[in-house]
Amino acid sequence: RIVSVNALEILDSRGNPTIRVNMELAGGSRASASVPSGASTGENEALELRDGDKTRYGGKGVLQAVANVNNRIAPKLIGQDAGDQAAIDQLLLELDGTPTKANLGANAILGVSMAAARAAAIERGLPLYAYLGGSEAVRLPVPMMNILNGGKHADNSVDFQEFMVMPVGAPTFAKALQYGVETFHALKKLLGQQGYATSVGDEGGFAPNLKSNEEACELIIEAIRSAGYVPGVDIALALDPAASSFYENGQYHLTKSGQGVKSSSEMTALYKEWAKKYYLVSLEDGLAENDWDGFREHTAALGQALQIVGDDIFVTNTKFIARGIKEKTTNAVLIKLNQIGTVSETVEAIKMCRQADWNYVVSHRSGETEDAFLADFAVAMGGGQIKTGSACRSERIAKYNRLLEIEAELGGKAVFGNPFAAQ
Ligand code: PGA
Ligand code: ZN
Repeated sequence: RIVSVNALEILDSRGNPTIRVNMELAGGSRASASVPSGASTGENEALELRDGDKTRYGGKGVLQAVANVNNRIAPKLIGQDAGDQAAIDQLLLELDGTPTKANLGANAILGVSMAAARAAAIERGLPLYAYLGGSEAVRLPVPMMNILNGGKHADNSVDFQEFMVMPVGAPTFAKALQYGVETFHALKKLLGQQGYATSVGDEGGFAPNLKSNEEACELIIEAIRSAGYVPGVDIALALDPAASSFYENGQYHLTKSGQGVKSSSEMTALYKEWAKKYYLVSLEDGLAENDWDGFREHTAALGQALQIVGDDIFVTNTKFIARGIKEKTTNAVLIKLNQIGTVSETVEAIKMCRQADWNYVVSHRSGETEDAFLADFAVAMGGGQIKTGSACRSERIAKYNRLLEIEAELGGKAVFGNPFAAQ
């Protein structure tokens, strides 16, 4: 039974306010959970409640969301069973009463939902991944490591937001991480040799002023080789152009790199050319969130060769995922807890993917905290893929370190369930 719930305004990895929720149960179990925040958000994401008071943190304070937890949510939750996640989340939805969680704020709601899961896990003496996933939760994910940042996550000349390495040939999670980290260090050296800056963007990837988007892929492939790995065998590439962020009036504007304006089908043709040349296995948000027709063509053209992941277009919402499955819009979904706002609804979105035999990738946000809930959640959900940033910045590393810990704890039971492993 829940005996107390309260919230605190804390800071995320960008120095913006976010919310932490603390919960205590009758038996003395205590847990807290912190909520992440995106920058290249989908239009239909659940509402992140910010104060808008320009005298504090440029309007980004979350004191209203904190007050909503303390004054409106807490009185209803006290006495409830934290171990009944579905009931807790239902209660939160009813209390909010809006489709976008605009009343209480999705940040307030998610913090409570996550804290309840963690408190219940502690009460039962289970690690969070085992509490959420049961005894089958033994599958470690392959990381998509975003080692070169552009788009809205960096002030540079690269349009595409994320250039990721996926160590698909590794035998274990720990080895996969090592492959990715060594490539990250090799890339740093290479950038330095070529006179590029090695400062990092929001997710810990380098953010150099490259001459083109292509150069980013070329440098990463060179880094893979110089770290001693074989591109396409040991380590593949994944991209998240986050194309909604450069889509305007039905066209894609590659303005940061000065590479002109392209239509949907020209973008798809470009990716097709890149797929082989750059050892791509996964492409997320190659087109924009409102370009459903473009996406259908895009997936028809590329979906055999690539995992086509929808992020902004689905916003972890079963309403949009159901349409996507029906229309063959993509063949995989990016899963972000705070896009939808409760643990239960996130699990529903994943169940829908599984039923359609679609892949899903559990993901962080560009604004994160030291909370490693996501690592446990990825193992619990068993999809075999996680996207949680580069090989530096502690808010990213916290998730990797937790996955290392889980793999060690599972010992011989651990499976490195990488969907791209050679058959
Ligand atoms: P965001 O970006 O967290 O800034 O929305 C991540 C993504 O687009 O996948
Ligand atoms: Zn994305």
